[in-house]
Amino acid sequence: IKKVTTETLRKLKFDKERITMLTAYDYTTAKMVDAGGVDSILVGDSAANVMAGHETTLPITLDQMIYHTQCVVRGVERALVVADLPFGTYQSNPDKALDSAVRMMKEGGAHAIKIEGGEEIADSIRKIVNAGIPVMAHLGLTPQSIYQFGTYKVRAKEQQEADRLLKDAKLVEELGCFALVLEKIPADLATQVSKSLSIPTIGIGAGAGCDGQVLVYHDMVGMNQGFSPKFLRRYLDLYNEISGAVSKYVSDVKSGDFPNENESY
Ligand code: KIV
Ligand code: NA
Repeated sequence: IKKVTTETLRKLKFDKERITMLTAYDYTTAKMVDAGGVDSILVGDSAANVMAGHETTLPITLDQMIYHTQCVVRGVERALVVADLPFGTYQSNPDKALDSAVRMMKEGGAHAIKIEGGEEIADSIRKIVNAGIPVMAHLGLTPQSIYQFGTYKVRAKEQQEADRLLKDAKLVEELGCFALVLEKIPADLATQVSKSLSIPTIGIGAGAGCDGQVLVYHDMVGMNQGFSPKFLRRYLDLYNEISGAVSKYVSDVKSGDFPNENESY
């Protein structure tokens, strides 16, 4: 199997072939997602939400993200594994940012890291890239800033914020980021950004003009019933499938149907 690299993603954009990405946080899921043929797997800090049940992504720690990344990497043969650096592990200064990125690569076994922001973290991006670590940027609705935004609504609808996003997108490319996630921004703006950059953009709620798409695994397989933004397409209804299977098991045990003779020694 030929492993996907940051160069592969660059070439996919050049060849106008769309890039696919999904999240995973554990070994078994990572195996299935890799087998399905995605180009890249994101160990997202959305683990704070879907794995741990937190309201926001802020509480998850670097140690916890490293653990999730180790689990995912063991299950992956082909996809490029990108891991989020969590809130508070890169914003304060470039040295700390590099230390966090190094831990994620060395202990976690990630192939690349992702961090949220543009100009305000430029020195950190530069430092991490200069250490030979591939960096994926993330602009638009950056969930680690949710308390500043106050809402999960679409970002950059106003010209001023759109201009700033375009500038930040150019900047992260100049700083050497290999790709850029665009989250929940108008499709026209995402198209404009994608056309103006040579590095690939990966969109979530950012329309079809991006060079690739990413979704949270639990959302796309329908495990997450409470979350249904317009941008989400559900491919399965696993919440009902799984709770239905559990309730069948419960009734089979209660009734004495399980285990039967063939299922006994
Ligand atoms: O943490 C995450 O899952 C993400 C994606 C939604 C881009 O950052
Ligand atoms: Na994230």
